[in-house]
Amino acid sequence: MGISGLKLWQWRVDAKTEAVAANIEPAEVDWLLQEVSSLDRLTLRLESFKIWHEVELKLPFESLEKLWNRRITERVPVQYLIGKTPWRNYHLNVSPAVLIPRPETELMIEIAKGAGVHLKTGHWADLGTGSGAIAIGLADEFPQAMIHAVDYSKAALFMAQKNAQECGFANQIQFYQGSWFEPLEALKGQLSAMVSNPPYIPNDEVLQLQPEVTKHEPHLALAGGKDGLDCIRHLVSTAPQYLHPGGIWLIEMMAGQAEAVTQLLKQQGCYKNISIIPDLAGIERFALANLIGK
Ligand SMILES: C[S@@+](CC[C@H](N)C(=O)[O-])C[C@H]1O[C@@H](n2cnc3c(N)ncnc32)[C@H](O)[C@@H]1O
Repeated sequence: MGISGLKLWQWRVDAKTEAVAANIEPAEVDWLLQEVSSLDRLTLRLESFKIWHEVELKLPFESLEKLWNRRITERVPVQYLIGKTPWRNYHLNVSPAVLIPRPETELMIEIAKGAGVHLKTGHWADLGTGSGAIAIGLADEFPQAMIHAVDYSKAALFMAQKNAQECGFANQIQFYQGSWFEPLEALKGQLSAMVSNPPYIPNDEVLQLQPEVTKHEPHLALAGGKDGLDCIRHLVSTAPQYLHPGGIWLIEMMAGQAEAVTQLLKQQGCYKNISIIPDLAGIERFALANLIGK
């Protein structure tokens, strides 16, 4: 399927204008174009394709127009339109069944790397795996560890498994459907680490987020109860039965929750080395601790 360079150039100009008017990042037009055409970022930036007789498209031009229209009118995130998102050095499959993994979550893998130097060969859990991003990141950094990825959503697990397979980690990640630690009963007292990016947004706030999130991302991935801390409370109180002494407890949380999470960990009485780590924007985003005992 081809289209004249000039026609596509004009469409791109119009789409960028629409994006600005709709308060959408105009760069998303090029993101979409790179996925559906043979054009690369430099060619788009230089606009050299404008004089080409034909630009190859992977879909009919009308379908491209429809996709962009859904971005503008329905506020569907561009990642769901494309069905892919970049995360660390991967290109992960995403659908509305899974939360789009965020760039700040990439930092969890670096934190785990630093904290888990002595625990490279054990059993690691990614609770609430969604697209499988964290499990894949852990499998990549800890090639000798076995990663156990849990999610309550069957549809999310399907996507996570597909991603693990495509990234080459199918043999290193085991998937379980169920609630938090529940499916990992057989690993009680044996986990080297629990890593989780749980739902942590207060229920009332979920509906006030941008429409891309509230209308399209799964609510199961977002809402964390009245104060947003329901899942984190559960992970604080349950992890001591599953981690081995010295095991790592690492979560992502929302801005403003650091104090409450620190208190929960202290009150539980089983944790040491409790620390709060900021993301690249300086927001207190991650809580890290070790189970007492080593
Ligand atoms: C914020 S998303 C994180 C997804 C992914 N780990 C990431 O960082 O992009 C939270 C995930 O927790 C899952 N979840 C919600 N409640 C759960 C439960 N009770 N047990 C297991 N997973 C749950 C959701 O389905 C969702 O995939």
